[in-house]
Amino acid sequence: MASNEPTARTDVEALDRKHTFGTWSRQRDVDPTEVVDTDGVRFVTADGDSVLDFSSQLVCTSLGYDAERVADAVAEQVRSVPYVSPAYVTRPRAELAAKLAELTPGSLSKTFFSTSGTEANEAAFKIARAFTGKEQIMSRYRSYHGATSASLSASGDPRRTAVPSTIQPDVPGMVKAPDPYAYGSSLTPEQSLDYIDEQLALEGGTVAAVLVEPLVGSNGVLTPPDDYMPRLREITRDHDALLICDEVMTGFGRTGEWFASDLYDVEPDIITMAKGLTGSYQPLAATIVTEEIADYFEDELLNHGHTFAGHPVACAAGLAAVETYEAEGLVENAREMGAYLREELEGLVDRHPSAGERRGIGLHQGIELTRSTERRVPFERRSDKMSGERTVLDDVRERAYDNGVYFFTSVNTVVVTPPLGVDEAHVDEAVAALDDALEVSDAEMA
Ligand SMILES: Cc1ncc(COP(=O)(O)O)c(C=O)c1O
Repeated sequence: MASNEPTARTDVEALDRKHTFGTWSRQRDVDPTEVVDTDGVRFVTADGDSVLDFSSQLVCTSLGYDAERVADAVAEQVRSVPYVSPAYVTRPRAELAAKLAELTPGSLSKTFFSTSGTEANEAAFKIARAFTGKEQIMSRYRSYHGATSASLSASGDPRRTAVPSTIQPDVPGMVKAPDPYAYGSSLTPEQSLDYIDEQLALEGGTVAAVLVEPLVGSNGVLTPPDDYMPRLREITRDHDALLICDEVMTGFGRTGEWFASDLYDVEPDIITMAKGLTGSYQPLAATIVTEEIADYFEDELLNHGHTFAGHPVACAAGLAAVETYEAEGLVENAREMGAYLREELEGLVDRHPSAGERRGIGLHQGIELTRSTERRVPFERRSDKMSGERTVLDDVRERAYDNGVYFFTSVNTVVVTPPLGVDEAHVDEAVAALDDALEVSDAEMA
């Protein structure tokens, strides 16, 4: 097993290590690799390694690295109107918001722009609370909704509990519910929904909104049964709670539909999005709400704002990104390549005893590993995400990387979420790298 010792290889890595904090880490464990170039769906390191990116970094570079239309739009906007306060408007902001109203389901029509998925969710909480006059936000345990106080309190992710609650307490007004996770929970997905129904009743009408990732991302690529989201929509209506879909990861074609809500014909009251919105060429996020919610704020105060809300350059990138998804048929490609990827990953599950379960839809897939073919015995505990302890998943990821393919791993799951423009040859290359890497976990089975 390789050690976790950081090894700065270039002057940039050494300089960075000295002066920049790494995210979510004990700083002694921070060991970034310098990236000097990109090419299509690959990035090139300072060592000259060309790496096939099969996680789209943090499930965000959905356009790959060569989106010329976005690069041109950014350059043009920087030269014409690089910034104005949100009190002014530029064409990209107006047109992008109109486009989002067109692409999102139902009567979702008005957008609040921000710069990160975290902020998109924070805005959703404020909007839901103001609109309903209720305090609580219900979310699920296996979820990630952001890094700031309220969004992290809404998350059930190991990052929420990594620091003792005496030092970093949850903000008030958050309530947690169970997840649809047949492989790893004692509740069936149906029972988890009954539980939510009962919880909403027991909370006595105090819940403003239920917040879910329609397909869970960094907490294990959990995929609900087909009738889960429609039933959750009914349950929230029965209890006069809004439904907020966090589509920060799943938005913009990742699942083979523009939004994962479309997979289930569900019309949420609010959708939050970021990552794929610009293909991550610029930091931009959005909180889109229904006409009914938008109308409420005609006379009531929307007590929220940011210096960079609706940043012209970021909105120009967003508009050009949407045009790129459309012009290149990337949503359709995600659906087609997703079906191919699914077959190939199922093949890995058949061949490798440590590949426990494949999950996901479109190009939002993952494989959860297990020490036992009989049942789920994880190689990683949830707490290992933050413990800094090296796990078998780290070894699998490293072997795949040595084979030239980058996968990100999270809570016992290899995340397989490539850019949406990949073809069969890319999938074959990635699956071959993972096929070899899974020998590592096979050898570690109980
Ligand atoms: C589903 C989901 N929501 C919210 C966030 C937070 O987004 P950001 O890191 O842009 O603040 C993430 C980030 O990974 C996410 O996956």
